[in-house]
Amino acid sequence: MGPQHLQPMQLLCLLGAISFLPRAGALLCYEAKASLFRAVSFHNWNWLLMRSVVCKLREGCEETLVFIETGKIKAVVGFKGCSPAISYPPQVSYLVAPPGMSIASYSHICRTYLCNNLTNLEPFVKLKANAPKSITASSHNCPTCVGRHDQECLPTFVNAETCPYSAPKCYSSTLQFRAGTLNTTFLLMGCAREHQKLLGNFQHIGSIQVNEVLNIIDKSQVVGAGSISQCSSWGILSGLLLAFRN
Ligand SMILES: *[C@@H]1O[C@H](CO)[C@@H](O)[C@H](O)[C@H]1NC(C)=O
Ligand SMILES: *[C@@H]1O[C@H](CO)[C@@H](O)[C@H](O)[C@H]1NC(C)=O
Repeated sequence: MGPQHLQPMQLLCLLGAISFLPRAGALLCYEAKASLFRAVSFHNWNWLLMRSVVCKLREGCEETLVFIETGKIKAVVGFKGCSPAISYPPQVSYLVAPPGMSIASYSHICRTYLCNNLTNLEPFVKLKANAPKSITASSHNCPTCVGRHDQECLPTFVNAETCPYSAPKCYSSTLQFRAGTLNTTFLLMGCAREHQKLLGNFQHIGSIQVNEVLNIIDKSQVVGAGSISQCSSWGILSGLLLAFRN
């Protein structure tokens, strides 16, 4: 038999199929978001990668993950998708270093097929292993929580933690992280060096847009008190939550 010739209908189908293929030079990347505030531990967290997306010409694949720790509570917020920014190798660092509440970020932009493929918290395990550990405790306590104000950070879930000596001030803020379809707003409370904006210098973490609004802590309760008793922390906290609801 000679070579088979395509019928007009087959040819049309073939052309149709080709128009759905990624354009030459456009990259396939994983697309995902994460925001988990409870039950995060270093070894149980697994980023499920179910979706991929064809990027615009010249765009790369990005993965950005923010890891927050306050007291014994851990949270993860992240984004994967296309990015027009130039490629860079994985960068892992503390934006706010321990002791006390800490915020670490991992970010990576690459330009090979499905290369934004991180699925675990391994980069932060190494970072934390090399971080200074505070042995001395201060006499201060702070309400400690990270999560949504009407879920993980309901008053019943907020504990007062003893602060490390070098981070004796109570911090409380409302953070909003946005990138692509990621849009999450949550409370962060814990021990810090100062009650001031911690992420003032990071309006963006990778392509995650960050908005930090400090919650007002009653100065009379924080300043005068050598140590905030568990009772007054509760007072502060319920005040905060009421303010947040209004
Ligand atoms: C993840 O992507 C890198 C390229 O960035 C590749 O070398 C590696 O094999 C990939 N790993 C998995 C598990 O697909
Ligand atoms: C993000 O969520 C907030 C409230 O949860 C909403 O007011 C805002 O419009 C959302 N922004 C986008 C870009 O979706």
